[in-house]
Parts: sequence; C-alpha cells; structure tokens
Amino acid sequence: MDRSPPNTSPDRRVFIHTLGCQMNVYDTGKMHAQLARDGYVPTDDPVQADLILVNTCSIRERAVDKMHSALGEYRRLKKGGQRVTIGIAGCVAQERGESLLQRYPDVDLVFGPDGVPQIQRLVASAVQGQRVLDTELLELSGYPFVSDVDPAIDKVGAFVTIQKGCDNKCTFCIVPATRGAEASRPHREILAEVRALVARGVREITLIGQNVNSYGLKDRGEITFAQLLYEVADVPGVERIRYTTSHPRDMGDDVVSAYRELPSLASHLHLPVQSGSNRVLRRMKRFYTRERFLEVVAALRTARPGLALTTDVIVGFPGETDEDFEATLSLLEEADFIGSFSFKYSPRPGTPALKLEDRDPVPASVASARLTKYQDRQRDRSLAWHRSLEGTIVHDVLVEGPSRHDPGVICGRTSQHAMINFEGGLEQIGSFVSVRVTRGFTHSCRGEQVHRAGSGSESDRPGPGAKGPPARPPGTA
Ligand code: 5AD
Ligand code: SF4
Repeated sequence: MDRSPPNTSPDRRVFIHTLGCQMNVYDTGKMHAQLARDGYVPTDDPVQADLILVNTCSIRERAVDKMHSALGEYRRLKKGGQRVTIGIAGCVAQERGESLLQRYPDVDLVFGPDGVPQIQRLVASAVQGQRVLDTELLELSGYPFVSDVDPAIDKVGAFVTIQKGCDNKCTFCIVPATRGAEASRPHREILAEVRALVARGVREITLIGQNVNSYGLKDRGEITFAQLLYEVADVPGVERIRYTTSHPRDMGDDVVSAYRELPSLASHLHLPVQSGSNRVLRRMKRFYTRERFLEVVAALRTARPGLALTTDVIVGFPGETDEDFEATLSLLEEADFIGSFSFKYSPRPGTPALKLEDRDPVPASVASARLTKYQDRQRDRSLAWHRSLEGTIVHDVLVEGPSRHDPGVICGRTSQHAMINFEGGLEQIGSFVSVRVTRGFTHSCRGEQVHRAGSGSESDRPGPGAKGPPARPPGTA
C-alpha cells in the first residue's frame, strides 16, 4: 500500500457507483480515501469523471442486472469521446473476473473486494493503458484492512468494518465465494478507526461484517464480539452503537447481556431469519430452528425491553411449500418484526441450493404471490408500529439530515431505528433532539420538536444513550 502523503491537487475526478450492501458502501469510502492520495477528488457527475468505478453486488440476479445497465451508461460516455478509465469492482467482479473483461472490451479494470487495499496500484496500471484483472483472494493472516477514513464521512453515523468474508455456507448465498473466508480485523485497528471518526464529529458507529457475532473466534488472542461492543462503548464521544449483520445461531449470552448493560447499544437489531419453517431452515443450512430463533429473541427482549427487530426473509426457496411459507408469515407476527427486507429466492452460480432448485423449484408466479403477501403483512405491522408511537415523545432522535422531500424539514432516527421527519434547522444535524410523534406512516413518522424551555419543560430529556426504550415497545398498537 502506498503510504505517500496525500496529493491534494484536484486534478482528477472519480465517480463511484455503489450497488449492494453496507460492505460495498464502506469499501467505496475506503476506495475514495486511498484514491485521494493520488489526487482523485470525488464527483457526483460521471460526465466529469476521469475514473468511473462500479462497485457491484451479486447477491441476487437483479443486482447483477443493475451493473450491466450502469456499465451501458458509462461505456456510452467513453464511446462518445470522454477520456475515462472504467473499472468494475466488488462481488460480481470477483465472481466473473476475466469474462467481464471479455464481454466489455472498453472496461479497463476488474477487481474484487480484496483488491480494495491495492486500489492505487491497480488504478495506476489501468490509467497507463494496461487492462487489469485482480481477483486473487488475499491471505487471511495479516489481512490489510484499510485504515484511511472516507474523506466524505458525515457527522452523524459511520460504518466501521470488523471482519471480512464469511465462513458459513448458507446454501443460497454467494458471499462466501465472492468475499472469501472470514478474517477478523484486529480490535486495536477498529478502535483507532472509531476514535478517528469520533474526532471528526461522528456520533453513531455501526460495526459491520458478514457475520459479526463470530468476530474474533478464529484468532487466538483476539477479543470476542461482546467484548468489542464494550470497548467501542468506552470510546469517549460514541453516543450510539449499531451492528450488522448477525447470525441467529451465533448470538451468545454475552451479547444478550450487553443489551442489559450498555445504554449506548441501540434498541434495534437486524437479525436475518430467512424462513420461519424448520424444514426450509435445514435446507438453507442455517443451523437454528424457529423455536431457537424465538428463544434468542425472547432473551434479547428480556435484556432490553422494547428491542425493535428487523429481519431478512427469502420466499420461494426450492421446495418451499404453502405450509412452509405460512410458517414464515406467522413468524413475522410472533417475532414482531417492525421491518423486513424480503426477497424472492434468486439462484446464484456455484451455490449448493442450485441442486435443490433443479429438483424442486418453486414456480416464479407462486414465489411472487408469496412475496407480495409477506410484504403486505409486513407493511401492516410497520404501519401499526409507527402508529403506536403517535402521541408519545421520543427523546433520542439523532438528526441525520434534511428531509429529501420537504424543505425546512429534517429527519432523524430513534434508538429503535424509527425514522421521524419534523421541522428543524440544518444546524441540528448530528445532535439529539426530543420529538413528539404526531403521525405514523408505513416507513416513517411525522413529528414536532419539543423544545427544552428550561425547568418544568415536558421534555425531561435523559440525553443521548439513555437506557431503555424511548417510547412504547414496538407493536403494541
Ligand atoms: N436469493 C435471494 N435472496 C438472497 N439473499 C442472499 N442470497 C440470496 C439469494 N440467492 C438475501 C438474504 C440475506 C440478504 C442479504 O440477501 O436474505 O440475508
Ligand atoms: Fe451469506 Fe449466510 Fe454468510 Fe450471510 S451468513 S453472508 S447469508 S453465507
């Protein structure tokens, strides 16, 4: 890695189109950070760019389709005479490597997630006219996690990666192939990055990894995920901690206890269940049952009353019967998910579920009907939850930015991850405010700020990181 001092002359512009998950968002930030050393300045306009990168996702075919259409647009710019280097990064690059260079003769550079730490060298070669392919997976020991901080980091929340790759083999999932085996980042590096972010004004840290609960377990001498949570909470200036993604099988008692003991740990958890049917969970190789999942949820909610849960669900997994699907629907009620990312199963190259798909496919029309039904049911619950907040005052809204639709309106999130829009000023971004919820919608709430007017004010605000849920627990409409 080049450790030369940054070249700050704004002579080159880079545009990165990011598809996919939080890992890609984070990797994009790291690419910007490293490219800044070579004088690359980010631009929002591909027409202005000297370098265009598409950071791709291969989790479902739809994401791959998005890559192709994005590339179509950028290649047209090049054909039209723009002098631009075009690169494909991320999971599709890793998976399809050479074949992308063959398919797209005007693409200069293809590299997978493990190419991110070497991006300066890769881009320099491509700019000099070589066609570059780097899909080598790096050694896990001493994996070079990038320490430079994304120059565009905002003042509210930031991701910090704690591991790379995944050692699980969920039968539907391509990630272990594209991001390789799991490696944990040394906790000292993580804490250094957290401190650097806080120094820039960041208040909320989201620890990210493919399976964060297994953090550190492979490396002797490393701390556990629960211990990491405590260490991060101890960094002065960290007001709120979130993390993603968790595997229900690996949710240990020590992490459950952290919900009792760490006020800055958010009252929201994203816990992907994938299916409510034990038969399907077995075929997915998830290694937990519906009953075990609910036990984990109950333990978490005992430790943190009002914990809001969101999840990921796949419908139409090969062999899924109506009865299996009904089990997923009933789990939505039983676990009381306030939100779900729900997907139709998408066959991925090289994954074990392909064999099941050959034998036992679910017709596309059936899968679509199930997805619609699940999403309708989830929408009802999300709406009910947001409505249950109406009339309450939430004391822990961290202001994230202006509302996208309404001038004069700003937007923030509670510890439970409810999004609330209310009138306010941009100077409030990054601060905690109290808001009375006036209306609940499906995806957000509307509210009004409750100003602290000295003693006797109704907003007896406990301050950021206050313990316990800010309002009523979810789903009690
Ligand atoms: N088809 C559909 N959804 C998938 N996911 C992962 N692989 C597939 C697939 N082949 C979903 C899972 C995972 C989320 C990130 O994407 O629900 O938790
Ligand atoms: Fe994919 Fe399963 Fe690993 Fe998540 S835990 S990245 S679903 S293999």
